[in-house]
Amino acid sequence: MNFDLAGKTALVTGASSGIGSHFARAFAATGTNLILVARRTEKLEALASELRKQNGIDVHVISQDLSEPGAAAAVEHQLLDQQITVDVLVNNAGFGTNARLVDEDRARLHAEIALNVSTLVDLTAAFLPGMVARDSGIIVNIASTSAYQPVPGMAVYAATKAFVLSFTEAVWGETHNTGVRVFAVSPGSTDTEFFDIAGSQSPGKRVPASNVVDVTLAAISARKSVPSVIVGARNRITASLVTFIPRRTVITLAGSIFLPRG
Ligand SMILES: NC(=O)c1ccc[n+]([C@@H]2O[C@H](COP(=O)([O-])OP(=O)(O)OC[C@H]3O[C@@H](n4cnc5c(N)ncnc54)[C@H](OP(=O)(O)O)[C@@H]3O)[C@@H](O)[C@H]2O)c1
Repeated sequence: MNFDLAGKTALVTGASSGIGSHFARAFAATGTNLILVARRTEKLEALASELRKQNGIDVHVISQDLSEPGAAAAVEHQLLDQQITVDVLVNNAGFGTNARLVDEDRARLHAEIALNVSTLVDLTAAFLPGMVARDSGIIVNIASTSAYQPVPGMAVYAATKAFVLSFTEAVWGETHNTGVRVFAVSPGSTDTEFFDIAGSQSPGKRVPASNVVDVTLAAISARKSVPSVIVGARNRITASLVTFIPRRTVITLAGSIFLPRG
């Protein structure tokens, strides 16, 4: 696909740390203007001023709790007021919780579903029509390798990511013959604040967040549009093996990794 990022505007949610901040740096390096969204304003402002200085791009900061009802509309209205068009949307903000369902905090589960699912759908639905009308745009939804099987110990998180994968692939099916490219990216264990926030250990070695960005940028510029990509050869093999192994074995194996001990 011939999509030149220079001079375009990318909105990255969850840009205050981890994978999102790497997306922001990578886009900035290509001359893409940015809209950075998350809750930690100081982190967003620090990144914004660094990227403005280094790359001479426009960077807007939107401090927004994306788990709140109406969060996507609030972001959309701010951008409409400032007459900013979003050419690239990266729905990256998300978090996981690692506990048995009987021990989970229900308010936290609601926030997890609202952020990982509801706001991701709202933002996609908010910005896709403009992209389709212009016959140009990119939407990247960050799923996870946990989307490929149920995960005892992270039941809600894995279900939110299965939703992201299914939803995004379906929207790919609605748009792939247009100038808009919509796809899901599924990272495996990645070196970010994710596991501290989830209260869990990562299974296996964590890869740098830049790997996720590199795989995404390659999918954006690839000739052929794909509905989803998985980061890392081992993760790609595991995701395809899962379809051949009996379901109860897959679930038991996932639980042996993620169920809290004791
Ligand atoms: N790290 C991994 O191993 C891994 C693997 C697979 C998928 N993923 C996915 O990758 C994405 C990025 O996570 P990460 O690994 O980079 O973790 P991270 O370092 O914890 O980053 C999460 C980002 O989401 C933002 N965020 C969290 N809650 C928010 C809220 N209520 N409103 C607005 N923004 C919020 C955080 O910003 P504030 O705290 O400033 O709001 C932060 O910028 C997530 O969707 C995650 O599920 C991660």
